[in-house]
Amino acid sequence: MYRSHSCGELRESHIGQTVTLSGWVAKTRDKGFVVWVDLRDRYGITQLVLDENRTSAELLEQARNLGREFVIQIKGEVIERASKNANIPTGNIEVLVSELTILNESKTPPFTIENETDGGEDLRMKYRYLDIRRNPVKNNLIFRSKVTMAVRKFLSGEGFIEVETPYLIKSTPEGARDFVVPSRMNEGQFYALPQSPQTFKQLLMVGGMDKYFQIVKCFRDEDLRADRQPEFTQIDCEMAFVEQEDILNVFENLTKYLLKEVNGVKIDSFPRMTYDDAMAKYGNDKPDIRFGMEFAELNSIAQHKEFGVFNSAELVVGIAVPGAASYTRKELDALVNWVKRPQVGANGMVYVKCNEDGSFKSTVDKFYDQDDLAKWAEATDAKAGDLICVLSGDANKTRTQLSALRMEMATRLGLRKPNEFAPLWVVDFPLLELDEETGHYHAMHHPFTSPKPGQLELLDTDPGAVRANAYDLVLNGNEIGGGSIRIHDKDMQATMFRHLGFTPEEAKAQFGFLMDAFQYGAPPHGGLAFGLDRLVAILGGQETIRDFIAFPKNNSGRDVMIDAPAPIDNEQLKELNLKLDIQE
Ligand code: AMO
Repeated sequence: MYRSHSCGELRESHIGQTVTLSGWVAKTRDKGFVVWVDLRDRYGITQLVLDENRTSAELLEQARNLGREFVIQIKGEVIERASKNANIPTGNIEVLVSELTILNESKTPPFTIENETDGGEDLRMKYRYLDIRRNPVKNNLIFRSKVTMAVRKFLSGEGFIEVETPYLIKSTPEGARDFVVPSRMNEGQFYALPQSPQTFKQLLMVGGMDKYFQIVKCFRDEDLRADRQPEFTQIDCEMAFVEQEDILNVFENLTKYLLKEVNGVKIDSFPRMTYDDAMAKYGNDKPDIRFGMEFAELNSIAQHKEFGVFNSAELVVGIAVPGAASYTRKELDALVNWVKRPQVGANGMVYVKCNEDGSFKSTVDKFYDQDDLAKWAEATDAKAGDLICVLSGDANKTRTQLSALRMEMATRLGLRKPNEFAPLWVVDFPLLELDEETGHYHAMHHPFTSPKPGQLELLDTDPGAVRANAYDLVLNGNEIGGGSIRIHDKDMQATMFRHLGFTPEEAKAQFGFLMDAFQYGAPPHGGLAFGLDRLVAILGGQETIRDFIAFPKNNSGRDVMIDAPAPIDNEQLKELNLKLDIQE
């Protein structure tokens, strides 16, 4: 038996018991006549004690020579601690060691295995298995497991069946590049790793599976950010014989369940907002609604004065930043420079200080009198002490810029509280999105999404106006999930492919299997997928998903621990019939 108890378990009630513990040496303190060892495992830390009076000289010497991270097993008696440590649950006791076995030695670790480590990001990633011994990483992984278990419990309770779909498939378009895998047995041919199990879950609906879910790896070759990894995990779901409303209800309940089970938070409000409203009010299709600063469009009240910049703009739009009228001139200049940074891209910013005495002071006092500015304040709901920030220009770009400013100000003002949760649905997404570079439309969600009833005709005349039965779940300004009601009619799917620029031959070659299946009684169906990594990070009060993944990739898509990707040797290339630069 390696252990009778864990290192997080022993309390005063165990005093007098003989126990066996196994774990890692976190720390030793040698006072000459007494040696203390902090023994760590997944569950906590227990203090071991050996001293001249009660321990043999040989055992004391052995303890003295223990290195950091040695794996040891001890046997001993639980005793009361002379000086107690209220900071840890085992702090009232220690174990007086009578036997010690070194199970394995350890090299000195390259960084300290403590909550606050001296190891930089790269080093911690290279030795991720040591990083995982640290509480912050370990706790995140335990938290992730808790969320995953709760998801399985809820969905199976709702009658969902977990089905695994293959990883070696062909392209499923979700808007990123595919990772491909050469086939040895089929010369010159490649599998694609799934960007999502989208087509398979639809085929499961044709197969009558009715309510499917899968906690599944997806692979997307795209630029990486704090909330994106090349391989990530989805909670992927699909249901048959449902309308959008049914799906929103199930997954609203899942979200509420998780917040209750995992965070102990009860959610009463779960608003639905159209895409158009989200863009108009927040300049963003994933609005953080934990705080106000809603957009006010000022065209009707700010245009047609003498201010040419606003008069020539498609959109003039402002927000009231609470309490920011007290900003100094220097701080305001810095803010204007902030919106002018290339990452934000505004040409400039007009601002109005709402003074405590009810007067206004703006950067455009030359063009607008106090009555004009009072109207801006009314429109933006600005109070005395607030700062109205106004941007103008091309409507879409200006909204994006003001959204960036809104989020920045919320962060600076501490309004993005990690323990506060505000989920919502954004619904009625556009079906198609114009690619400005190519001038072509592509599917905003994916090509299997159905347009809203009666809108098919618009596809020919005004494709950008067609709205889809598509929805996103947004939590605290993050897109946690997305889905849609699917097309289940072969002809409509063919029409959609045509509008997306596929020739009938191309559509058949890529998606013939799905169109074929639609000829054999495909039920009406729809679904969605949550990004598990993002969900876990947000529930955990953070936004960097890497911290919740056991073995993540760095920003160049590398696993620095195993050193992947890596070249393969010529023999393997030959075997795969890959004739890339083969040098004999
Ligand atoms: P979508 O592409 O919106 O939908 O993906 C669903 C959710 O997955 C998460 N996500 C990611 N998380 C981490 N790293 C990434 N690279 C990454 N990409 C996406 C997001 C996103 O909301 N098949 C459809 C779902 C459906 O229609 O049922 C799909 O994959 O949180």
